[in-house]
Amino acid sequence: MKALPGKYNESRTQNMSGYLVCTQIYQISARVPSPEIISIAALKLRENGLVAFPTETVYGLGANALNDTAVGRIFEAKGRPFFDPLIVHIANRSDIENVAKSIPKIAYDLAEKFWPGPLTLVLKRLDRVAEKVSAGLGTVAVRMPDHQIPLDLIIAAGIPIAAPSANLFTRPSPTSAQHVLDDLDGHVDIILDGGPCPIGLESTVLDLTKKNPTILRPGGTPAEALREVIPDLLVPAQSLMHEETGSPTSPGLMLKHYSPKARFLLFTGGKEEPSSRLREIISNLLASGYKLGLMVTDRDFPAFTDLPIEIEKLGHEENLAEIGQNLFNKMRLLDKKKVDFILMRSLRTEGLGLAIRDRLFKAAEQQIIDLEEPVDIEKITLNLKHQKRT
Ligand code: TXA
Ligand code: MG
Repeated sequence: MKALPGKYNESRTQNMSGYLVCTQIYQISARVPSPEIISIAALKLRENGLVAFPTETVYGLGANALNDTAVGRIFEAKGRPFFDPLIVHIANRSDIENVAKSIPKIAYDLAEKFWPGPLTLVLKRLDRVAEKVSAGLGTVAVRMPDHQIPLDLIIAAGIPIAAPSANLFTRPSPTSAQHVLDDLDGHVDIILDGGPCPIGLESTVLDLTKKNPTILRPGGTPAEALREVIPDLLVPAQSLMHEETGSPTSPGLMLKHYSPKARFLLFTGGKEEPSSRLREIISNLLASGYKLGLMVTDRDFPAFTDLPIEIEKLGHEENLAEIGQNLFNKMRLLDKKKVDFILMRSLRTEGLGLAIRDRLFKAAEQQIIDLEEPVDIEKITLNLKHQKRT
């Protein structure tokens, strides 16, 4: 992407509805967003166009949440199935009443404590919210982002904004404007480039329509912090690693998600020190002619530098915020290097660790390889042989 002070037209494509899309990119300060650029983007949203913007979590692909045609374009641009509902973004706590009804007291308490911030509340939906936002459900997911660009944009547009992560369906979420451009060039009208996203992982989705408040997706607001306000909080097994329950509680909790193009191998167990078992597996895969990428903490990095593989450092092993911020970016970087496999050891699950593990687990298509057990290389490489690079 060119560095630019103003705007430029990247490309034009005709989408399925015959709508000619010409992606424009604006660089905009995240701290003091230019009111001029905000009003251009706000107008585009009011015209039912698509605007991608940064939030504190990941970039969102926004459209007028009150208009089915506008919301339909989000699904089309992302290639997202219509049964997976979207999050509605608001700019003031009190706007919750413009999109939801029968709001329980706990929602107000949570909004008071965690908004603006990476917490999405699932509530009963008001009819004025476009049906496509909720994918036919009677509920709506709402959040107030902790980022000046969407806050200004929502106020300027005067409408709530429906926005999923601005990536192609099943690709890792975008944490920079370049990621959005890589996935959606020619499919989004405007990209507001406000720099990298500070958290880098999506919001926590909390369902308040159940008997017990239930985390549907762990994210930027840790379960421990929520539990202080909600003692009977449920964190279903799907968010954890070793258990796999039946159908998804959140339509978005589908098997393949957040995946790099490479096959993602997630390892558990092994010693505290970088495992010799992992080196053994790497050697075996290298011997079979595969190109490998490894994502490691700073501590593990030196143990692998002698190997002919692509290595990406995620950050200090104690700093889950840093690791979380880097996670999707590093997956995308390794994909650009066209590796066949990305390998990574699992991390602890406290705090942001639960969200990180959830994304890794999904990237690995819910398979974890135990380093204590004998590893079957044939099984790992199964169905990949035909893709093998020579
Ligand atoms: O941080 C975030 O949440 C980002 C930024 C842009 O706000 N958005 C995001 O949206 O990650 P998306 O669409 O990629 O993920 C939304 C998740 C999906 O898992 C979806 O199934 C769930 O929220 N969701 C949305 N509406 C829901 C509803 N009414 N009931 C249950 N789950 C819902
Ligand atoms: Mg997403």
